[in-house]
Amino acid sequence: MSLYSEKVMDHFRNPRNVGVIEDADGVGEVGNAKCGDIMKMYIKVENDILVDVKFETFGCGSAIASSSMATEMIKGKPLKEALLLTNKAVTETLDGLPAHKLHCSVLAEEAVQAAVRDYYQRNNIPYDEKDFPALDHAHDTHGEDGQ
Ligand code: FES
Repeated sequence: MSLYSEKVMDHFRNPRNVGVIEDADGVGEVGNAKCGDIMKMYIKVENDILVDVKFETFGCGSAIASSSMATEMIKGKPLKEALLLTNKAVTETLDGLPAHKLHCSVLAEEAVQAAVRDYYQRNNIPYDEKDFPALDHAHDTHGEDGQ
């Protein structure tokens, strides 16, 4: 019996939406201090819709699978819907992760929220911190002036 579901293995071996969006409208970078893994999410936004999403993950297989699945789940969706993506939903769609790997899917939730918040900041769009519940302890890579 494998520790990992077929979907996890599939998204790990053949991750979707890997790469960089050079002219991204928002970028979110988050990391887990304990394992040292880092995830970077790039988004392209048109009329409040995520028209493109790409990611780079320097981390474990579960983090790669989680970010791949997360991009698939939010691509083409309105920003507000993307913000509702939870690590639980990502994990369930991957048919589960081992308990000690759940934190890897948390990175995906945080990275999506960080990218959307970066988009709001760059465009001076007012937002409520409560819309970004995963970011309480995540670090923002941008200054307060949104430059
Ligand atoms: Fe840290 Fe997977 S072991 S993100």
